[in-house]
Amino acid sequence: MDASKALVFLALFIAATTIPRSCASDPDLLQDLCVAETSKGTKVNGFPCKAATNVTTSDFFFAGLANPAAINNSVGSAVTPANVDKIPGLNTLGVSLARIDYSPNGGLNPPHIHPRATEIVFILDGELDVGFITTANKLISKTIKKGEVFVFPKGLLHFQQNKKDKPASVLSAFNSQLPGTVSVAAALFSSSPAVDDGLLAKTFQIGTDEVGEIKSKIAPKKK
Ligand SMILES: *[C@@H]1O[C@H](CO)[C@@H](O)[C@H](O)[C@H]1NC(C)=O
Ligand SMILES: *[C@@H]1O[C@H](CO)[C@@H](O)[C@H](O)[C@H]1NC(C)=O
Repeated sequence: MDASKALVFLALFIAATTIPRSCASDPDLLQDLCVAETSKGTKVNGFPCKAATNVTTSDFFFAGLANPAAINNSVGSAVTPANVDKIPGLNTLGVSLARIDYSPNGGLNPPHIHPRATEIVFILDGELDVGFITTANKLISKTIKKGEVFVFPKGLLHFQQNKKDKPASVLSAFNSQLPGTVSVAAALFSSSPAVDDGLLAKTFQIGTDEVGEIKSKIAPKKK
């Protein structure tokens, strides 16, 4: 094979191996299972696998979504993740769930982004105003009720709010074992170390005193 043929072959090989990957999210696994060995400090794009002899049923089980979570914050919602941090058996499988509960009369899951996953929500109970914003700044929003489904594409800013006078809850599915959450207000106003007040004042076209007021009210992001 001469050099130019080798280059063409290489280009085709790269195309063949990378194009299908652009449709996937977390990479595919190369064995039956790889239960997260969370006690090992080193991570290689996920967790190392537990020794097979140490794998148990409980690595694949989680009861934490069965009941509504206590809502104890100023926005009126509670997210209960069922990801690889809670279910070690999810390591390398590319999926996870969360349950979100919303208080009546305005309970809000504030605008946030999942950098590693598309989210699909199924309403368990109640009714929600949901929406996401595209990179072209177009709002895609809808009021959805019990039994209905809505999708938030990977990486786009989205939110849900319960404006009804009774509680609401959803089950969310993600195509990542650990979708990650960037909550916009918390990221900008309660990061550690803090983002510069002047930068935030200029960004939002407000005064630094107003920035300080927002910072005093935004609770630090919980993991
Ligand atoms: C299995 O787990 C035990 C207890 O955590 C640990 O001491 C042991 O090294 C593990 N076995 C293997 C093969 O990793
Ligand atoms: C959250 O719960 C703690 C302890 O139960 C309580 O002290 C606190 O006031 C609660 N906060 C809110 C915002 O409800």
